[in-house]
Amino acid sequence: MSNMFPVSRPRRLRQSPALRSVFQETEFRLEDLVLPIFVEEGIDDFVPITSMPGVNRIPESRLAGEIERYARAGIRSVMTFGVSHHLDATGSDTWNENGLVARMARICKDTAPELLVMSDTCFCEYTSHGHCGVLHGHEVDNDATLINLGKQAVVAAQAGADFIAPSAAMDGQVQAIRGALDAAGFHQTSIMAYSTKFASSLYGPFREAGGTALKGDRKAYQMNPMNRREAIRESLLDEQEGADALMVKPAGAYLDIIRDIREASRLPLAAYQVSGEYAMIKFGAAAGAIDEARVMRESLGAIKRAGADLILTYFAMDIARDGI
Ligand code: PBG
Ligand code: ZN
Repeated sequence: MSNMFPVSRPRRLRQSPALRSVFQETEFRLEDLVLPIFVEEGIDDFVPITSMPGVNRIPESRLAGEIERYARAGIRSVMTFGVSHHLDATGSDTWNENGLVARMARICKDTAPELLVMSDTCFCEYTSHGHCGVLHGHEVDNDATLINLGKQAVVAAQAGADFIAPSAAMDGQVQAIRGALDAAGFHQTSIMAYSTKFASSLYGPFREAGGTALKGDRKAYQMNPMNRREAIRESLLDEQEGADALMVKPAGAYLDIIRDIREASRLPLAAYQVSGEYAMIKFGAAAGAIDEARVMRESLGAIKRAGADLILTYFAMDIARDGI
């Protein structure tokens, strides 16, 4: 007769707010969040990004003020994306010592030296064709792009960037960047690799944010979203090439991959909650279908639970303002 009652009653530990909070397994901290920002040169006013409600392109002239605001709110790191008015076939503005990549890092470090600056290291916002490297016919030339990645990394490090964050999805990019940084004496500049980057349709709103000229897609260099073994392989390659931290991008639809890489590597792991993930939550909430504040926290907690140490998220300032 004793078996008419359950032996295990998990509900016991869920009875009250006190019990629920004592037995909560996962937490994220404001320190875990990295705020991605879009900085446009040659404009005077903030430009709202309509597909990412609440996110603006920041005029370069207002960047210092914004950085001050973030630092005061408790933000610990930003990922900088430039919206360039100097496009050419190779994206050469990125390795100009006075180009936008360098200026963004300098302004950030001059304004708030303790705020970590991660410099997104790619070309797609600086090329006239919108691809993430040098075009050779219709293809992106891997090895020609590596040389330019090295040049951009050195310029960003020189300008004060704490992390070089290569997102071009070229083979050997971490090794090329580590070599270029070391040769220039930047042994202490870290590399956070976009080590497993999928060719995802969730980047849609970012294309408006970054104003890229791309026609077509990046499937010849970014990964097929359906591939799990290859996803692990890509991150392990970047570890072998000398990355200091790894990243999975996007995050929410790739929690299995985050867990796989967490178990395959001992490096710190970041995950990027991308523009489309942000937009889905924002527009879902605006339509009255979901509660924005709760879904935002649930999504960030789930990414953490899957095994990410850091989360790149456009919600970072919301959390800084309203608390965890
Ligand atoms: C380009 C880059 C992209 C994002 C970050 N860096 C877009 C792409 O690869 O097409 C997407 C970020 C986001 O969607 O929030 N190297
Ligand atoms: Zn790119």
